[in-house]
Amino acid sequence: MKTKLEMLSFEKIVERVRKLKSDTILIIVDERVWSLYNDKFSLEEKITDKKIIFWIAPRGEESKRISEFEKCIESLLEQGVHRNSHLIAIGGGALSDFAGFVASTILRGIDWSVVPTTLLSMVDSAIGGKVAINSRFGKNLIGAFHRPVNVWINTEFLNSLSEEEIKSGTGEVLKYAFLSKDIYEMIIQKKGRNEIIKACANFKLDVVNEDPFEKGKRKILNFGHTLGHALEKASSLKHGVAVVWGMAIFFLIFNEGKYLNELKALKNILGWGDELPPWNVGAVPTNNIISYMEKDKKIVSGDTIDIVLVEGIGKPVIREYTIEEIKNKVKSGLDESINIIL
Ligand SMILES: NC(=O)c1ccc[n+]([C@@H]2O[C@H](COP(=O)([O-])OP(=O)(O)OC[C@H]3O[C@@H](n4cnc5c(N)ncnc54)[C@H](O)[C@@H]3O)[C@@H](O)[C@H]2O)c1
Repeated sequence: MKTKLEMLSFEKIVERVRKLKSDTILIIVDERVWSLYNDKFSLEEKITDKKIIFWIAPRGEESKRISEFEKCIESLLEQGVHRNSHLIAIGGGALSDFAGFVASTILRGIDWSVVPTTLLSMVDSAIGGKVAINSRFGKNLIGAFHRPVNVWINTEFLNSLSEEEIKSGTGEVLKYAFLSKDIYEMIIQKKGRNEIIKACANFKLDVVNEDPFEKGKRKILNFGHTLGHALEKASSLKHGVAVVWGMAIFFLIFNEGKYLNELKALKNILGWGDELPPWNVGAVPTNNIISYMEKDKKIVSGDTIDIVLVEGIGKPVIREYTIEEIKNKVKSGLDESINIIL
C-alpha cells in the first residue's frame, strides 16, 4: 500500500481522522507534544462517533524501550483493539518509530497514520515505514517495515521545536539537496520552508515507493549516514548534524573536497552558522569511528559495506567496499579533515 502525504492545518487533520473508515482510533502521542498541542486536537469532543483510545508515551527516545512497548500494547489490548482499528502517531521520529512498531505488531498489524512534529520526522522518519524500538544491544534492532497509510504534515509544530532539533532536521534537508537537483535548486533560490519540506518528504516517498524494502535505490537515503552514525556515537552529536559531517568527510575522501563549498553555501542559506568540527579539540577519534562503522547494520555481508557517494549534484551512486578499504580511506581522509570548517 502506498502512503498518502498531505500538508494540512490542525483542523484538517482532525477532519481526516473523523473520515477514517474505522470506529476505533488509537492515538499514541509524545508526552511533550501533547502538553503543548492537546488543545489543537480535542479529538474526543470533535469526534463523537468513534471510540478514541490514548497512549501518552514518554518524550523522544525514552518511548523506544521494550518495557514501554509492553506497557502500551497491553493497555491498548485491554481497552479493546480490533483488526480494523486505526492507529495515529503524533510526535517526532522516536515516537513514530515506536508507535509504528506497535501498529505493525498488534493483532499482527493494523493500519496507521503519522502526524510528524519535528523537522527530521517531517522530511524523513515519518515516511517509509521503517519502524523500531531499541534493544540493549543497540538502537532500532527490534523492528519491521510497516508503511503508514497517511502522513499529515503541519509545519506549525516547528514553532515550538528547539534550535538544536531544527538544526538536526536541517541536516537531513541538506542531504536531500545532494540527492535531488530540484531540491538543491529550491534551496539556492531561497524557496519557502514549507515548500522545501514538502519536496524532501515527496522525494523520500518516491524513493520508498520504488524500493520499499531497501534492496536497491532506497539505500541512497543513507548518504552521509555511514560515517554519520559513527560520529553521532563517537562525538555525541544530534543525528542530522552528524549526517552533515558524515557527508563533508565523504566529500573529502571520495570527491577530493569537491562539493564542500556547495555544502557550506546551502548550510548558510538554511540558517546554519559556521560550524567547527565536532573533534575540534584534540585528535580525531578515528579508531572509535571505525569501530562504530564496523558494527553498523549497513554492512551487507561479512566483510563488505555499501557506501553512498555522489558523482554530481542529484547523482548518488551506491558502491560496495571491503571494510579494510573503507578503514584505510577513513584513516587518511580524517587526518586531512581536521581543518574543515563548515
Ligand atoms: N524510521 C526512520 O526511517 C527513521 C529515520 C531517521 C531517524 N529515525 C529515528 O528518529 C528518532 C529521532 O527523531 P527526531 O529527531 O524527530 O526526535 P525525537 O522524536 O526524539 O524528538 C526530539 C525531542 O523533541 C520533542 N518534540 C517533538 N516534537 C516537538 C515539537 N513540535 N515541539 C517541541 N518539542 C517537540 C520530543 O519530545 C523530544 O524530546 C530516532 O529514534 C531515530 O532512530 C527513524
